[in-house]
Amino acid sequence: MIFDTHAHYDDEQFDTDRDELLNTMAENGVGTIVNVSAAYESCERVVRMAQRYPFMYAAVGVHPDEVGSLDDEKFDGLKKLFKNDKVVAVGEIGLDYYWDNESHKLQKEWFIRQLELARELNLPINVHSREAAQDTMQVIKEYGKGLDGVIHCYSYSKEMAQEYVKMGFFIGIGGVVTFKNARRLKETAETVPLSAIVLETDCPYLAPEPYRGKRNDSSLIKYTAEKIAEMKGITYEEVVRRTEENARKLYRL
Ligand code: NI
Repeated sequence: MIFDTHAHYDDEQFDTDRDELLNTMAENGVGTIVNVSAAYESCERVVRMAQRYPFMYAAVGVHPDEVGSLDDEKFDGLKKLFKNDKVVAVGEIGLDYYWDNESHKLQKEWFIRQLELARELNLPINVHSREAAQDTMQVIKEYGKGLDGVIHCYSYSKEMAQEYVKMGFFIGIGGVVTFKNARRLKETAETVPLSAIVLETDCPYLAPEPYRGKRNDSSLIKYTAEKIAEMKGITYEEVVRRTEENARKLYRL
């Protein structure tokens, strides 16, 4: 069944129908979802949600756009959430020079601290990186030695994707691969072996065609999987089965 490796079901866009929607996942072929925190406030929420739904797990971490709200005390509070056995990763963490909400120095500082936390806990990382290709690679090489995980919503070159794969990372591919103008991501999806690809929504954002611009949810991953199947010349079923195996390896489930 479909494994959504990166979703945000605590987002307010799901406030009106969250339970209803999540209760239809199994009938839509979705077997597992990892709900990922972004803001500090969402960390507790994703853990609570994972406790409520048997098919849902949580990643706990603070997104680079949100690290300005962190301090030592809050960071210690976050660490306690990892005692819950449904927390399977540290994320999403990384660098975002597109929105540039926080200084690069502060983003790097919290990225590094959260990498160190992942090492301490022996957990994979869920990496967010936008317009920060070189710095992200450099920080992971320098401070993330021995760590593995996923580069979520991958948006850089196919060569860099290969480098991440060699380092033991998975490449997270979502709805963007169905967009007409996504030439670079299509090249990556074609060249990276299926054994290194995991599927994701990043919902409520980045719905695939033909739902581009609408609210995304895990059931729409089928359009992403169909696109990858078409590009790689294999069946839809193989894409779903293999990416599910990959996701289980990634999150050690
Ligand atoms: Ni995300």
